[in-house]
Amino acid sequence: MRKIIVSAPGKIHLSGEHSVVYGESALLSAIDRRLIVSLEQRKDRTIKVKTQNLKLQTALQDLENKSKDNLVFFGIWKNYQILNKKPKTGFNLEIQSQIPMGSGLGSSAALSAALSGVILEFEGVKFNRRLINKIAYEIEKKQHGNPSGGDNTVVCFGGLLKFQKTDGQFKFQQLKTNKDKLPEFLLVNSGKSEETTGEMVELIRLKIKDKRAKKKIEAQKLIQDIGKITGKFIASFDKNQFNNLKDLISENQKLLEELGVAGEKAKKIIRLIQKIGGAGKICGAGGIKTGSGMLLAYHPNLKILKQLFTENNLDFFKVNLGQKGILIKNG
Ligand code: MEV
Repeated sequence: MRKIIVSAPGKIHLSGEHSVVYGESALLSAIDRRLIVSLEQRKDRTIKVKTQNLKLQTALQDLENKSKDNLVFFGIWKNYQILNKKPKTGFNLEIQSQIPMGSGLGSSAALSAALSGVILEFEGVKFNRRLINKIAYEIEKKQHGNPSGGDNTVVCFGGLLKFQKTDGQFKFQQLKTNKDKLPEFLLVNSGKSEETTGEMVELIRLKIKDKRAKKKIEAQKLIQDIGKITGKFIASFDKNQFNNLKDLISENQKLLEELGVAGEKAKKIIRLIQKIGGAGKICGAGGIKTGSGMLLAYHPNLKILKQLFTENNLDFFKVNLGQKGILIKNG
């Protein structure tokens, strides 16, 4: 029986989270944590899904109905709807992920892209990143309401990506950054965010649309300022010149805090990093009630940073940027 394996990376926002929803550019990177979906054809008309902690199944004729309240079934169904086809046989899907959920690392974008990749391959559609990205975006919309599309795009195309959405169209370009010259970063855990990405995006939308003119102007100004900082990030990564990186990260985080997307625990960790001469920021939607997900942590001497996190009992890992986008392996 045919077996197809697809993997998709997680992502971080180096800069531009939230402001990207309002047409500003973002700088994203694919990271070295991946989600893997494997598909094995079945002889019957059942779809079985197995994840690290869940088992689900549906008969093919119930897929549309089941897609209403389950993202994996929705993802499968959406692919067939866009292809204007029906599955001929059932299959087993196994999902394994190294990308923590609710942490700003693009776990749902990786799932959406990998699901699309595996179904298109199963249906004999020639590998096409743009089509995978288009379908992944539809799945992301089901999950997050009004996402920018940046997460799914970097997950599909990989590398370091300048991304912008204008008039509903994705505009993106991979930076030609030399991977060997990239600065080193750690990701440190400030705790899972209680809010979903969709809820965080909605929170900012309400601020941007605030009836009180002063509040509304303040929020809009913050979005523009994050846009300006992102421009500086992009220039710095484009030229492989990182002497101002620490300041850019700190300025970016300050604006995100003013926008109101960082929780107390995240702010505390960031102050600790700053105290030893480094900088840190949230790297996705953030979160305010509890954790704000993984934080991007930078220090010219990584050893000192590791020591700080170890002493404070914080979970962390080294992250490598500019990784490959979605990959398909046929078995
Ligand atoms: C989420 O990873 C990033 C946000 O900018 C939302 C989006 O771009 O869709 C907060």
